Amino acid sequence: MNKRRLKMAVILWMILLCTGCTSGNSLKEKDSTMKIGITIYNQYDTFISSMVQEIMGYSQSMEEEKGMKIVLDIVSAAGSQTEQNDQVEKFVENEYDIIFVNLVDRTDPSFIIEEAKSAGIPVIFFNRELVEEDMERWDGLYYVGAVTVEPAVMQGEIVVEAYEKNPSMDKNGDGILQYVMLEGEAGHQDAIVRTEQSVATIEESGISLEKLGYGIANWDRSQAQTKMLELYKESGERIELVLANNDDMALGAIDALESLGIHKGQWPAIVGIDGTAVGMEAVKSGKMIGTVYNDAIGQARALMDIAYRLFQGEKVGEKYFRLPHSTITQENVMEYE
Ligand code: BGC
Repeated sequence: MNKRRLKMAVILWMILLCTGCTSGNSLKEKDSTMKIGITIYNQYDTFISSMVQEIMGYSQSMEEEKGMKIVLDIVSAAGSQTEQNDQVEKFVENEYDIIFVNLVDRTDPSFIIEEAKSAGIPVIFFNRELVEEDMERWDGLYYVGAVTVEPAVMQGEIVVEAYEKNPSMDKNGDGILQYVMLEGEAGHQDAIVRTEQSVATIEESGISLEKLGYGIANWDRSQAQTKMLELYKESGERIELVLANNDDMALGAIDALESLGIHKGQWPAIVGIDGTAVGMEAVKSGKMIGTVYNDAIGQARALMDIAYRLFQGEKVGEKYFRLPHSTITQENVMEYE
């Protein structure tokens, strides 16, 4: 098992074993226990796994700081909306105080909303954004995520800056950057906006782009590797830039180039989004020209903070909580350690 698979397996193990776990071991005798049911769309997603890890760590500090007990019941829907609906039904039956939902299908939250609403249990959706009309269906619904357009613009800016510093990114010197796009899931709000706006930002700066191809790789590293192998077969060294909707897919592109034995000096410039630990490693080693920090820690903490406020009986007026991004390149990647 390589290091990445091992890490995934450990996180998966933590998720699967976490049913009913409490996040602290120095619990004081306490009258109040906050019980949170958490369902994620897929246990193999690197970004979501990092959020789950932070939720667990932060709830432990929250227990200590607030002198309370927190029970987290964390499950994966393994890509099935029906499974996720059943999970939420169980959370409701077990009278959990709050439910966090990372929707499988962002267009299909009706069952979850109705279940939670009829039981009066607030739901905080995160990362996979439902449409506003659904959010308006009950005032016990909240959303935690990132500012949507910002990372795409920042990704574009990373390319613009890198090109200004290093015009030889245009390997054939034709004054046009030939690129391929690795896209996240079709229909995911982030995939749609990132795909459009990164390109728009680069073009608005005056750089000409030519799209050689694209692959939908569903945020996934090995799917991206397969897509990149196909794209490379079609366009080979003509590819000067790989725009990936997230770091895992950028890493999949790197895996493809490495598996083809292509010398690093011949690689296209590769840029991701997320700033995951593995993504930042690739920036540090110069395999990626940069990434955009998608604040998994801030979003995880926001979920827990809102849960706490709701548990305390506070009326939380705002429904949307969006965290900002920042740009990571080789120049500042050390600051993120
Ligand atoms: C992240 C991706 C992640 C996806 C899951 C996006 O915001 O950037 O890495 O796979 O959310 O929904």
